[in-house]
Amino acid sequence: MMTNAPTSVVAATAPLTGGGGGGGEEEEEYSPRLYAKSQEDLLRAQSYNPAPTTVPPPIAALAGNIGERHVLVFIGLPLRGKRTIALRLKRYLRFFHGARCRAFDVASANQSASNQSGRSISSQLREFLTDGGATTTEHATEDEDGSVRRRHTERLREEYGIDTFSDANAKHVDSGRVAVVYSSDASKTFYETWSGTSKERRRAILKDLAAIEAEERDLGGGSRKVKTIFIETTLTREELVEEVLAQRVARDVRNGKVSEEEIEEAKEAWRRRIDEYRKLYVTLQEDGSEDDLSYIKLYNYGERVLTNKMRAYLPQRIVQFLTATHPTAHKIYLCRHGQSEYNVTGRLGGNSAITAKGVAFSEILGRFALEKICGMRRDASGDSASSEWVETHDTVRARLWTSSLLRTIQTAANIEHPVIHDGDWEQMSPRVYRNIDEIFAGDCEGMTPEEIVEKNPQAAYLRSMDKIGYRYPRGESYFDLISRLEPCIQEMESYTEPLLVVSHQAILRLMFAYLTGVAREQAPGMNTFSQNVVYEITLDASCEDLITEDVDAFPGFVIAHDFRDDVAKLAKITDPALRKKFVDELDIDRFAPPKSPSPPIEKPR
Ligand code: F6P
Repeated sequence: MMTNAPTSVVAATAPLTGGGGGGGEEEEEYSPRLYAKSQEDLLRAQSYNPAPTTVPPPIAALAGNIGERHVLVFIGLPLRGKRTIALRLKRYLRFFHGARCRAFDVASANQSASNQSGRSISSQLREFLTDGGATTTEHATEDEDGSVRRRHTERLREEYGIDTFSDANAKHVDSGRVAVVYSSDASKTFYETWSGTSKERRRAILKDLAAIEAEERDLGGGSRKVKTIFIETTLTREELVEEVLAQRVARDVRNGKVSEEEIEEAKEAWRRRIDEYRKLYVTLQEDGSEDDLSYIKLYNYGERVLTNKMRAYLPQRIVQFLTATHPTAHKIYLCRHGQSEYNVTGRLGGNSAITAKGVAFSEILGRFALEKICGMRRDASGDSASSEWVETHDTVRARLWTSSLLRTIQTAANIEHPVIHDGDWEQMSPRVYRNIDEIFAGDCEGMTPEEIVEKNPQAAYLRSMDKIGYRYPRGESYFDLISRLEPCIQEMESYTEPLLVVSHQAILRLMFAYLTGVAREQAPGMNTFSQNVVYEITLDASCEDLITEDVDAFPGFVIAHDFRDDVAKLAKITDPALRKKFVDELDIDRFAPPKSPSPPIEKPR
């Protein structure tokens, strides 16, 4: 039986604002959801269940800490990659933990405050952390069953003295707020309080935040703590210092602040400036004088990590993420498996083999992976049948992940695994990761979308209404996928070698959305992933500048290598020698400006 269409969502959905990213302080707020919209019907008071649970138990992706507030303050010398890491952490906390997270740039607050048009970081934080009491008073909006809910709420208040809307235990609250404070120009803001560059400045930050708490108490807002965590980045390896410096100067060149001819001069000036700041900067002290602070000290990013007073759910997730992430430039290549038998008939899920077209793509991918990703070349000296891959000046160590399903393993089957660097590294060593298996459609596995509409109209309807939250009967939702993807993303963040991921539509939508700054609610509707196209994503410090909020557009750090026409041609060739010739002669580096993907939200089916 079809359920009534809910017309509103409880304390859960505010208008989406796209990816977020960028400088942060001007962006609209992304509002997290505490439960799947498609479960809403289960949360209404019914005659047989007059006191329903207000929010179902969380899954990891929806497990924000209710009402908690954290302020993460990035500190360290200039040019330590703080901005990149801070903005990436913000994206991670939003995407994987549903945290209401906003970034605050000390450099731009400083600028606007000095020309009297802007507000200080403290006042911006005050507004974000308290936000007109929204953390405790976001109510259900009127809906068809509003009267039932109201009656139920009133009864709870009258009979049991429980106020579900203002009681501290009420679940109609947001899933925690996280302010990420960083400086996009740490040399300009070195002497600012919020740079946290000395013990006194760190104490002043704590005092500012304590004042916000006190003000809230005075206004009767309760005594919820604002937890402050200092995150200090220290670089001791020269090559990392030089890489961050190079990325910074490249950014200045792009922004027109430095010309090509001035690059070396600009670098030298930075080195001198940093040497001066080094004399003035006071690191987080381990002599007992700062032991009461919560902090994370990162040495060479995750190489060595020291934590103090970081025992809680979100702080531990933050430590784990920061142990993995780094601003060193590296590439992620994403592609779907080649055409499968189920793709031909439009069936969902399953574990079918790839078709002739799928095999054609796998042959092309075999060459692309070794030549384009690993930077190797076939030795043309021997006879072509037994040719071997040899190293070149461009050869890099590279990695490969597939799911555990036949269609991705077969798609990667033509990728060879030459051993390089004197036996030190096996290229594209196959790693089979169950976490990147396709969404499991439960009772709907093996059906076509049309069959689902016919046999399980409720499933089709609820999914069209809430694609991210709808869990297939005995199957999974996109929120479930987000939870099982998190450990892979942590690992992916830690790599510096290029990684090729051969996976599936739903998984790749989420990975792509996370990496390119698209809000997770928009990911299930993205039609980005064509089969037979390899998407190359270069992650470095410039990404945060290039992220757009337009889900339709690829940001500038994504390249699409489009082999769709080649696959169609190759699939028609039957002679093995001719097939090989076709692949060998293919222009393998055939990236085209990515075509704009089709509209973001699919029509309900
Ligand atoms: O149709 C191919 C496929 O990978 C299915 O196996 C899977 O159920 C589906 O795509 C996921 O996409 P969507 O979430 O849009 O249904």
